[in-house]
Amino acid sequence: MSEQHPFGAPVTFRIGGRPYEGTYGDSLLETLHRYGYEVPSLCHHEAVSAYGACRLCLVEVVDKRGRHKITTSCNFPVQAGIDVLLDTPDVVRHRRVVLELLLAMAPRSPELRALAAEHDVPGGRLEPDESAEDCILCGLCERVCREVVGANAIAMSARGTAKRMTTPYDAENPACIACGACVYVCPTRCIGLEEADGKRTILRWGRTLPLAVCQQTGRAFTPQFLLEHYAKKLGGLDEKVFRKAPPYR
Ligand code: FES
Repeated sequence: MSEQHPFGAPVTFRIGGRPYEGTYGDSLLETLHRYGYEVPSLCHHEAVSAYGACRLCLVEVVDKRGRHKITTSCNFPVQAGIDVLLDTPDVVRHRRVVLELLLAMAPRSPELRALAAEHDVPGGRLEPDESAEDCILCGLCERVCREVVGANAIAMSARGTAKRMTTPYDAENPACIACGACVYVCPTRCIGLEEADGKRTILRWGRTLPLAVCQQTGRAFTPQFLLEHYAKKLGGLDEKVFRKAPPYR
């Protein structure tokens, strides 16, 4: 039984009946990717905890007793003796429905449209939600902001159909260091970043900060607020390397 293995122990499991070595407790999705299997995913990133929000990474898992279940693989742990089936008719059918729902939430996302086309998802059955700002509520931006950057500047607000990712009170949040990590990981590119006149703006959060200037090239390169955020953690800034930006809030 899988319970006999401590986390991190090597285990043998199967993918489509073929035996593979894995590590007990590792993300099944990451293990599948490591072995070169393509499983679509939008809300997973190895740098942050799994959340299981987009539901795209579905697989069918057969346990030791032969019981089948459809599950998300990003937050399913590798276990001894399981057989992981990819792209079974049930998995394909469920994934198509999920993609159709996601497409209605983010109808303008080129990534999502490409995925939908790749998986033969019929468009037009669901009314696109034009007010959703192309956000699929996957929470990846929030996890990166909290777990990697440590800024905690954004969070999910409200519930049900009113649920959305935002800053507290929908206002510019002084905790945001405008690092752009949320922009980088967003799978539908619905956050947006602009740089002009020595300032960087994270469009969706309405956060604008002046950029520090590189002493070597004279080019603005990153928000000074961000430099100071990390300087506090790392113990000091070398101002020979950059010129301070004008005061910020
Ligand atoms: S990647 Fe697994 S639910 Fe999104």
